[in-house]
Amino acid sequence: MQHAIITGGSSGIGKATAMMLAKQGANISIIARHQNKLETAKAEIEAVRADPEQRIICICADVSQQAQLEQAITKTIEELGTPNLLITSAGIAHPGYFHELPVQIFAETMAINYFGTLYAIKSVLPSMRQKQQGHIVIISSGAGLIGIYGYTPYSPSKFALRGLAESLRGELKCWGISVSIVYPPDTDTPQFATENLTKPQETKLITATAKTWSAKSVAKVILRGIERKDFVITPGLEMKLLQVWHSLLSPILNWYFDKIVNKVHSYSNEQLTSNNE
Ligand SMILES: NC(=O)c1ccc[n+]([C@@H]2O[C@H](COP(=O)([O-])OP(=O)(O)OC[C@H]3O[C@@H](n4cnc5c(N)ncnc54)[C@H](OP(=O)(O)O)[C@@H]3O)[C@@H](O)[C@H]2O)c1
Repeated sequence: MQHAIITGGSSGIGKATAMMLAKQGANISIIARHQNKLETAKAEIEAVRADPEQRIICICADVSQQAQLEQAITKTIEELGTPNLLITSAGIAHPGYFHELPVQIFAETMAINYFGTLYAIKSVLPSMRQKQQGHIVIISSGAGLIGIYGYTPYSPSKFALRGLAESLRGELKCWGISVSIVYPPDTDTPQFATENLTKPQETKLITATAKTWSAKSVAKVILRGIERKDFVITPGLEMKLLQVWHSLLSPILNWYFDKIVNKVHSYSNEQLTSNNE
C-alpha cells in the first residue's frame, strides 16, 4: 500500500490532496502545528478512504523546526514505512507593504515556506534513497514565477522553492526519486482568506481578474501531474502561460500592474486633496 506524507495536510490544498489520495487507497500521514485541525482533517480523510484497512495518522510539528519535523517524519516512517510520496504543502502568506512589514515576517515566511520544505525533503531522503524510489512534490505558487506587489515576504520564499526543485531534480533522478513543483493559482482556502485581511488595495486589484480555484480542483491537477511524473505542475492556462513565458510576459505585466498602482495612488491623492479643502 502506498504511503503519502503531506505537510500542511490539515487544511486547504494539502487536505484536499490527502483526501483524493485516501480515495485512491493510500495510507496517509499529515503533519501540521495545530492538533485540533489535524484531528478534524484526519476524520474527514478517514471518511473517504477506499478501505478501512488504510491508516491515516496525524502528527503535530512545526516544519520550520528541523528537529521537530525530522522526529515527526521518522515516526510516520516507523508506523507506515518508507513514503512513496512527500507533498510539502505547509506554508504561510502575509502580504503587506514592504516598508511597514517587520523583518520578522520575512524570516518566518522563509523559515516555514522554504526551510520547512527543505527539512521535510532532508528527512525523507535517507529512506527513499535506500529504496531507490519516491516522489517529492513541492508546492510553490504563481507568486514563485513573478514578483507581485504586496508579496515581498512570500514571493521570494516561493522563488526559492523553484530554485530548490530545479537544482534538486537531476540529483534525485539518479536515485530513482522524482521531483515535481506545483504553481497553484489563487485558491479558496483558509490561507487565502487570511491573506485578504492584510492584502494592500493595489494587490487586490492586480489579482482581481484571476479566477479563484477550489482546493479540490487544484488537488485534482496535482494528482494528475503526480501520475504522469510531470516536473512542472500548473493548474490552469494562466499558470501554464506564466510558467512558460514569465520572462517575456514580465514587462507587459509590470506595465499593467504599474497602471493599477498609479490609479490607486492618484485616487488616494484626490481624496486627500478634497479632505484638505
Ligand atoms: N491558497 C492559495 O491561493 C495558494 C496559492 C498558491 C500557493 N499556495 C500554497 O499552497 C500551500 C497550501 O496553502 P493553502 O492555501 O492550502 O493554506 P492553508 O489552508 O492555510 O493550509 C496551510 C497548511 O499548512 C500548515 N502550516 C502552516 N504553517 C506551518 C508550520 N509552521 N508547520 C507545520 N504546518 C504548518 C497549516 O496548519 P497549522 O496552521 O495548524 O500549522 C495548514 O495545514 C502553501 O504552501 C501556499 O503557499 C496557496
